[in-house]
Parts: sequence; C-alpha cells; structure tokens
Amino acid sequence: MGLKIEELKGGNIDLNKPVVLYEDENHRVAWVGSSEDFIFRCNAYLISSGDKNVLLDPGGIQHFPQVKDRVSQLIDPKEVTHIVAHHQDPDVAGSTPKWLEINPEITIVTTPRTKVLLPYYGFDRNKVKWLDVSVLDDTMLELGDGSTLIFLTAPFLHFPDAFVTYDSKSKLLFSGDIFAAIQQKWELIVSNFERHKTEMMYFHVYYMASNKALKYFVDKIKPFPIEAIVPQHGSIIPKEFVKDALEFLENLKCGIDLLYEESPIQIVLSDLI
Ligand SMILES: [Fe+2]
Ligand SMILES: [Fe+2]
Repeated sequence: MGLKIEELKGGNIDLNKPVVLYEDENHRVAWVGSSEDFIFRCNAYLISSGDKNVLLDPGGIQHFPQVKDRVSQLIDPKEVTHIVAHHQDPDVAGSTPKWLEINPEITIVTTPRTKVLLPYYGFDRNKVKWLDVSVLDDTMLELGDGSTLIFLTAPFLHFPDAFVTYDSKSKLLFSGDIFAAIQQKWELIVSNFERHKTEMMYFHVYYMASNKALKYFVDKIKPFPIEAIVPQHGSIIPKEFVKDALEFLENLKCGIDLLYEESPIQIVLSDLI
C-alpha cells in the first residue's frame, strides 16, 4: 500500500504492462507510457480515484495502441473521465481525438492557450467538455477520498501556457516536459542522478525559455511535499533526488540565456551529434 517507487527501484519491471507507482484502497497512480527505441521516450500516467480516471499526457497518435493497451489492463478505456494535457505538443496530446472517440464525455483539463491549439488535432472544440486551468493557480479537481489534483502554471516551460499537476494523495508531481531528459539508455526510475543531470541538461537547454522562468517555477513548487517527480520524457525522479533536481533547475542556464552569450551549448551539441 502507498508509494511503490522504492520497491520498483532496481527491480525487473515488465514495461509491457502498466506500472503501479502508488496504490491505496481509493487511489491508484500508474505509468502507462510507451516503449520506443528512441531517445525521446514518452511517459503517460493514469490516476484512478473514486469515480474518476484521469489520463495525463496521453501521448502521440503512434503511441495510442500501446497506451490504450496498458490503460485497458487497469480499467475499461471508456471509463477515462479526464485527460490532462500539460501543453499541446504532438508527443503529449496527439492521441486526444482517439480518446474522445472512445468516450466523447471526457473532460480535457488544460490552460486557455493550449485549449486554442488542441482542437487542431481534429475534434470539435464546442463538443468537448473543458476544465480551464487558471493562471491564478487555484484550479483543482477533487478525486475520491478527499484527494485533490492541483494544477500549477509553469510559464514558458516550455510552452508559454504550460502547467504541471500535483496529486495531494500520492504527493507525485506530474511535471510534463519540465524535469524531462533525453537518454540513450532509458530507465523508469533514475538510478544515477549525476548522469541524469546531464541527460536533463540536454533537454532543458534547448526547450526551456530561460533561467528566470525555471527559478520562478521552482519557487512555486518548493512548498509542496514531493515524493517523486514524474515527467513526460525520461525517468521518474525519486524522493532522494528531488531536492537536488530542484536545485539543478534553479541554477541552470537555458534557452535565451545561452542564445545570446558565450555558452557551453557547442559542447552540448557536439555531444549530441
Ligand atoms: Fe513539449
Ligand atoms: Fe514532450
């Protein structure tokens, strides 16, 4: 019962199945991501609590069969009640129309500027239920057993209207592209944080707007007790590395910080190519 991340560390995990990250009588969080031999692997997550099943960052259109298969091993896919789209990128939300075909009653949780763009994947914005995430950081979704999902905006990380989700029950922070990593060798849970910092740096230097944006975001999430950070790409950051991960982002130069000054970006580039 409770958080399972410690148990999963170093274990043999069958990634053809959903991986339960947290479970109690009323609340379950599972990884339902896709397996792909590519440095840009995509994670999706399903929170089932009370009468709600919330699918976070369901993934691209080509990931749909895999994600649906993993979701089906936990619930009937028709029972997905909410999709949380932390921003509108194709790797995050391209499969949204497929999920709406299965259940047109799904509520999409997202920010106003993401809401403008998502229907371009091919669905009628007027026929869909929406829950608008406010810039005031006061948007919440009540789940079973008094637990709450709290939606916190993360401006310019990397989309101007990006946001993250905090689950008050599991104390997991679903961070979308923030804390994401580009990895040659993927693992579900970070084992070597020194190596992981480099892998996060590869992602953040290009995608994230600036250190100022990162600093304000880290300040916003610091007061929350975080048991693990669960990003859309890369590995889950367990509690033992959360403090270091926050410090790492707080101090990282990225985006326009590097574009307009002499920077280590050439070293990063030559490493990647
Ligand atoms: Fe993205
Ligand atoms: Fe992404």
